[in-house]
Amino acid sequence: MRIDVITIFPEYLEPMRHALLGKAIEQGRLEVGVHDLRNWAEDKHRSVDDSPAGGGPGMVMMPTVWGPALDDVAAKKVPANLESAEAHLNRPRHDELEGIEPKAYEAKEDSELPLLIVPTPAGAPFTQADAQAWSTEEHIVFACGRYEGIDQRVFEDAKKRYRVREVSIGDYVLIGGEVAVLVMSEAIVRLIPGVLGNRRSHEEDSFSDGLLEGPCYTKPRVWRGLEIPEVLLSGNHKLIEAFRKSNSVARTKKVRPDLITRALKEGTISPADLEQS
Ligand code: ADE
Repeated sequence: MRIDVITIFPEYLEPMRHALLGKAIEQGRLEVGVHDLRNWAEDKHRSVDDSPAGGGPGMVMMPTVWGPALDDVAAKKVPANLESAEAHLNRPRHDELEGIEPKAYEAKEDSELPLLIVPTPAGAPFTQADAQAWSTEEHIVFACGRYEGIDQRVFEDAKKRYRVREVSIGDYVLIGGEVAVLVMSEAIVRLIPGVLGNRRSHEEDSFSDGLLEGPCYTKPRVWRGLEIPEVLLSGNHKLIEAFRKSNSVARTKKVRPDLITRALKEGTISPADLEQS
């Protein structure tokens, strides 16, 4: 996969060089280009914004700068320029050592056009299902807006070269799209086959089955007088699975009742599961 990010704050994307994303870059499974929008500015002040048509507060990002930037990035005329920050390759994760086959998710769409993701609080909510579908994309471009936003004509025009998605990471307003890009990139890249060694580790994630994951424990058996639930030490896999499921349902019921309604409708859980939790 190749990810390109266009932003006026390239340094904000520095975390993409680290940890799992950095490792995916080293493995050759991911290429990342981070590009300063001002490189496409036309005046000596490298301006990228102007006052809003119709008046009002704030500034709007100019189509005359965004248009050429998106053209060049769609055509891969600018290099993938982000290197991994660290050497990870000789440090396999313990789950990789188990040698479990990675699994690819199913693509939602079949198109030659790259995917243009525009983070905005006015977009459709980003979900785990999007992360799964987009983990199969070949080329994803993120356009980071600042100020009041980007001139809407940029996206109308971009439809000739891209599949355009306006996406929100939650019901709150950030200063710009950069942090949302980090969030979405991490959610997407960890699902690329081979990036996270153990396929079970994301099949059991919260949201993958429409429910939240329950609590987890590790050694020591007793810590500050608090014990690991007995059943987890029983070695009885059926009982352990039932315990985890009922915890997962109980947590979801408490903090996300909306997900329970959906899980019942989709048959992920039964009314009996709900009663036992
Ligand atoms: N930019 C500003 N707020 C945002 C949000 N909630 N999601 C995505 N991009 C944003």
